[in-house]
Amino acid sequence: MKTVFSCTFPLVILLYACTGPRSAATVQFNPYEYTIQKKATGSNGAVSSAHPLASETGINIMKQGGNAIDAAIATQLALAVVYPSAGNIGGGGFTVIHLANGKNLTIDYREKAPATAHRDMYLDAAGNAQTQLSQNGHLAAGVPGAVAGLFSCLQYASLPISKLIQPAIELAEKGFVLTESEARHLNNIQPALIKYNTVTPVFVKAAGWKKGDTLVQQDLANTLKRIRDKGMAGFYEGETARLIVDEMKRANGIISYEDLKNYQAKEREPVVFDYKTYKVVTMPLPSSGGVLLPMMMHMIEDQPVKQYGFQSARAVQLMTEIERRAYADRAKFLGDVDFYKVPVKKLSSKEYAVERMKDYKAETAGSSKTTQAGLIPESEETTHFSVYDKSGNAVSVTTTLNGSYGSRTVVGGAGFLLNNEMDDFSIKPGVPNLYGAVGGDVNAIAPGKRMLSSMTPTIVLKDNKPFLVVGTPGGTTITTSVFQTLVNILEFDMSAEDAVNKPKFHHQWLPDEIFVEPDFPQAVRQQLQQMGYKVTQRGPIGLTEVIRINANGSIEAIADKRGDDSANSY
Ligand code: GLY
Repeated sequence: MKTVFSCTFPLVILLYACTGPRSAATVQFNPYEYTIQKKATGSNGAVSSAHPLASETGINIMKQGGNAIDAAIATQLALAVVYPSAGNIGGGGFTVIHLANGKNLTIDYREKAPATAHRDMYLDAAGNAQTQLSQNGHLAAGVPGAVAGLFSCLQYASLPISKLIQPAIELAEKGFVLTESEARHLNNIQPALIKYNTVTPVFVKAAGWKKGDTLVQQDLANTLKRIRDKGMAGFYEGETARLIVDEMKRANGIISYEDLKNYQAKEREPVVFDYKTYKVVTMPLPSSGGVLLPMMMHMIEDQPVKQYGFQSARAVQLMTEIERRAYADRAKFLGDVDFYKVPVKKLSSKEYAVERMKDYKAETAGSSKTTQAGLIPESEETTHFSVYDKSGNAVSVTTTLNGSYGSRTVVGGAGFLLNNEMDDFSIKPGVPNLYGAVGGDVNAIAPGKRMLSSMTPTIVLKDNKPFLVVGTPGGTTITTSVFQTLVNILEFDMSAEDAVNKPKFHHQWLPDEIFVEPDFPQAVRQQLQQMGYKVTQRGPIGLTEVIRINANGSIEAIADKRGDDSANSY
């Protein structure tokens, strides 16, 4: 499917097309008229991301000699401009990389609690949780990690940051046209933008936004130029840091210069586990996905799910019970391993998965009252993109502001939105966060701690070479969507396109319900209800981006049908 967005002001297109000398790193496509492409096949490289201009940016970098890591950095920076609801420099994320030389690695640039954050900071005098404070405005923001993450990735890139950031600078400075859904989403948050900002941001428009309007972000362009010229210090020190701290001071926020200066991304040992003849490489804690994905894959591995058939009531029931068990453990055991000893090895082991399934009963609804965590001594606006190059480098990246447009607070004069990631901590044991997830002590707030995440950027290897690059946004639905996408391809032999686009479902222990997408088959819902399940229809689940590398060397990039997501290849 192709959808074309074009500017309502042809003069602007002309101006942009003609301005300035076109260096090799400038935008090589027209940001005033572009196409959404859901499937792209090539033999040199591919990018699938939440926005066509970001996917184009990544492909252009590869065409200029960059590898998949270069393309990922440029795509991520472009998303920070053209996809403000989730693309960001004011949030954080995880990157999983498989290098052509066979090395697997991960970069953790999750936000951290500021140094003056404390366990009860969102409780009122009576001890009640104030989720409006953990979810909106200045106090909701964790110390951003995204820029540190980009610079950590740079050691594996081949082009300088000046070249990789240039497209983002141009997209911010000269503007791009909005898609219909971006215009709608911006219109939906106008009251919040007015409420949670001390300086009116460019996203506020009294007359409302419409498809084809041009969004210019000069303050953001200036911030990106400081990053280009000064590296990490262009964000974590100097003018940008001053603007962030001034913003905090204007509205009781607590991020300080020291918090910013001390922020460091971490390269972490990836989670690598076998699934039948495949190797799955994914993100470790603070991503809960690094524990839950192996757990769920191990639980399904010995079950005859293929025989049950895709989205048969029996298969959905089995996968629901697997998801229930995994998420019960998430709530009890998972948090930042730098702060708390988490029994990761045990939780991710095949033996534990087999033990956990001992009380599984086919075709009968389980209960989250009786299924508790295992007995051993834990809006969904995140964004994912997948990149692959012809040398065999694969990059799987999920980044987040947490909720849609994060805290809704834009740093005055710096032009970027801050995350509301503090809500991913357990602000009070048993109190559900934005995604209805509960947690306890392991994920309680502490200064400098990273909040638990669901982001699960993943690479599947076949014969030790990349076969799938996969991931999605979606809060707690992330890990179940990655799980279902893998099961769809590895067990049901589905095409990548179907694996992404067929209806998804989700169970997260509490609430004890199966959430299904609107196009989830009615007959299966009824069969599940007859088994005793509560089935609740909800909106679309995730925006999954998959790259599949076929045996003949062709590279297939699939962008989820659910959004403006777009795939590109060459
Ligand atoms: N903020 C969503 C996540 O990290 O899971």
